[in-house]
Amino acid sequence: MSRFSKASVRDADVAGKRVLVRVDFNVPLTKPTASSAPGSPEESDMDPGSLPRPGAAGLQVADDTRIRAALPTIELLRDRGASVVLVSHLGRPKGKVDPELSMRPVGERLAELLGAPVSQAPAVIGEDIETMARGLGPGGVLLLENVRFEQGETENDPELATALAGLGDIYVNDAFGAAHRAHASTEGVAHHLPAYAGLLLEREVTELTAVVESPSRSLVVVLGGAKVSDKVGVIERFLEIADRILIGGAMCFSFFRSQGIETGDSLVEEEGVKLAAEALERAQSSDCELMLPVDLVLGRSFDAGTETSEGDGVEVPEGWMGLDIGPKTAAAYAEAIASAGTVLWNGPMGAFELEPFAAGTRTIAEAIASAPGTTVLGGGDSVAAMQQFGLADKVDWLSTGGGASLELLEGKKLPGVEALIDA
Ligand code: 3PG
Repeated sequence: MSRFSKASVRDADVAGKRVLVRVDFNVPLTKPTASSAPGSPEESDMDPGSLPRPGAAGLQVADDTRIRAALPTIELLRDRGASVVLVSHLGRPKGKVDPELSMRPVGERLAELLGAPVSQAPAVIGEDIETMARGLGPGGVLLLENVRFEQGETENDPELATALAGLGDIYVNDAFGAAHRAHASTEGVAHHLPAYAGLLLEREVTELTAVVESPSRSLVVVLGGAKVSDKVGVIERFLEIADRILIGGAMCFSFFRSQGIETGDSLVEEEGVKLAAEALERAQSSDCELMLPVDLVLGRSFDAGTETSEGDGVEVPEGWMGLDIGPKTAAAYAEAIASAGTVLWNGPMGAFELEPFAAGTRTIAEAIASAPGTTVLGGGDSVAAMQQFGLADKVDWLSTGGGASLELLEGKKLPGVEALIDA
């Protein structure tokens, strides 16, 4: 396995220090249902007529995977007598305070998971926040408000980076999911403090880099999702590295369109057609086999109750849309996965959220769950699919990154990693 080249928090002297930790707590929030929050009507903590307080939006964390993934770093720091100041973004509030995107529900969930109190800062920076940070004892935890409430965050504003640096003696980046962003809390701040990699970030980079640099053969890459343009960098890179690339999801229609195959009413990313044609051409001179579906499941519309048809072949007639790979394709892909030494999966095979079109993605998920080789999921919807099918614990590594994992796999440098001190 390739060696991680950045200094790890494990090797940092943190006892008695204040550590500013960038985490990726960009998690889905939901309104609690009556059964999940008995006796707590959604608006009960709001004074009528007053501005909603952050956290008063009545929301709770719908999926705490990313919070759990950051626990080892937080626990290591607390165990070693550091105080911990956590900073994260949540959604894309574009530099304005949005109570629906307050970190408050995240802090509440974190406190439950840690089994320890978590102080919640009412803002990101400012004198009061500095006082709160300075007041933390060893093992104390403070969670700042959503860093994207500050305009300077996405602009990588040096003033914001300096103010954030003032909240800690040491900086740790554990936000792998945001490491492809050169923002004030992921990149700028790292130039002002001794900057270390968190345990999650280190593991993510190590696992994903190993797929590219030292995979057990054969290396099979399964790619799905709607857009070729999102995956073209990964396709290009793996045409040089992988033994097989298996294509599914709506992006296969850009490939079919480029081959002059009828796509009916299927979702076709027009700008992806040229990219798909180029990828097919490159595949001709590559040792990697680029596999496309040989059959499809069709629907009249994107809806669970719609009329369905199992197409023989991949022509989609007018009035129909392709919404899943067919059983022959799924079986062929499952066979390729079963004989692989390493499998990387990114992107569902069809509209798996609609039961009539979930079979292709389920077959791939099951094949990966029982594959004898090393299995790695590149984040996003494939992780959600694996969780939906109850198979998440059967995968060797589930990345918490979406865009970050794709960029790393493409071979791009991640600014949030580059800015850390070398090992
Ligand atoms: C993600 O969810 O992929 C990360 O948290 C990054 O979020 P962003 O795309 O809004 O920067």
